[in-house]
Amino acid sequence: MLSPLPFYLPQGNECGLFELAWRHQLPLLLKGPTGCGKTRFVAHMAARLGRPLFTVSCHDDLTAADLTGRYLLKGGDTVWTDGPLTSAVRGGGICYLDEVVEARKDATVVLHPLTDDRRILPLERTGEMLAAPSEFMLVASYNPGYQNVLKQLKPSTRQRFVAIEFDFPAPELERRVVAEESGLDEGKVQPLILLAQRLRALKGHDLEEGVSTRLLVYCATLIQAGLAVRDAVQVTMVEPLSDDSEVKAGLEEVVKAIFA
Ligand SMILES: Nc1ncnc2c1ncn2[C@@H]1O[C@H](COP(=O)(O)OP(=O)(O)OP(=O)(O)O)[C@@H](O)[C@H]1O
Ligand SMILES: [Mg+2]
Repeated sequence: MLSPLPFYLPQGNECGLFELAWRHQLPLLLKGPTGCGKTRFVAHMAARLGRPLFTVSCHDDLTAADLTGRYLLKGGDTVWTDGPLTSAVRGGGICYLDEVVEARKDATVVLHPLTDDRRILPLERTGEMLAAPSEFMLVASYNPGYQNVLKQLKPSTRQRFVAIEFDFPAPELERRVVAEESGLDEGKVQPLILLAQRLRALKGHDLEEGVSTRLLVYCATLIQAGLAVRDAVQVTMVEPLSDDSEVKAGLEEVVKAIFA
């Protein structure tokens, strides 16, 4: 049975672009701040194209074997077990590498022959050379904001992808997203959107990252569940953003100006 389509409100032509990339067997890189809809977009597109989705959250211990697979002891035997990348290649699925910049070099290197016109995955340990079927697609995402200089994709990796830049949805779209996700009506969501705009304007001065659409959804969900607006705002749009009491006092001023 096909899983229901996860809700995704497009910001532009990203759905068409994703589908074109998939049809033409081009890997796709999504760049954008935390909580702006990248993961939701990939889940939506995988369901829409009817492809199984294999998601990997990358981290700095992630090895090539975590992606491709390894021999595991089962009973008395050692049995080869496919990793998520291999499963996606074999099954013509979509492999989604979240926070790909966190992955170690040896892990990103296995992507190279898969993401150019060879489209092959060599499995050294089993001696197999898998050719990716036309339905297979590699999608990677990362947040260009909070990386240090050391954590950048090598040009030889990044230049294998078609790349789309994401940002928080425009206010009227974000209002619909937050209302849809939380069940709170749009009229009550509106001041939260305004607050988010103001808080995002502080990015770079006091804040590393602007308040995310994800946090807005949390806020509206708590309000819809009966929490007082000011309390909901405090725990979702002030506390998560900073630990610095001066910065928080600054955020609270912005809140007061809107919810006086
Ligand atoms: N365009 C959109 N359509 C529907 N929901 C959205 C959209 N944008 C954001 N959301 C909502 O925001 C939440 C966070 O989005 P998501 O998890 O996709 O962020 P992300 O960009 O993957 O963040 P991170 O980089 O932290 O992983 C989603 O769970 C969803 O509720
Ligand atoms: Mg994500």
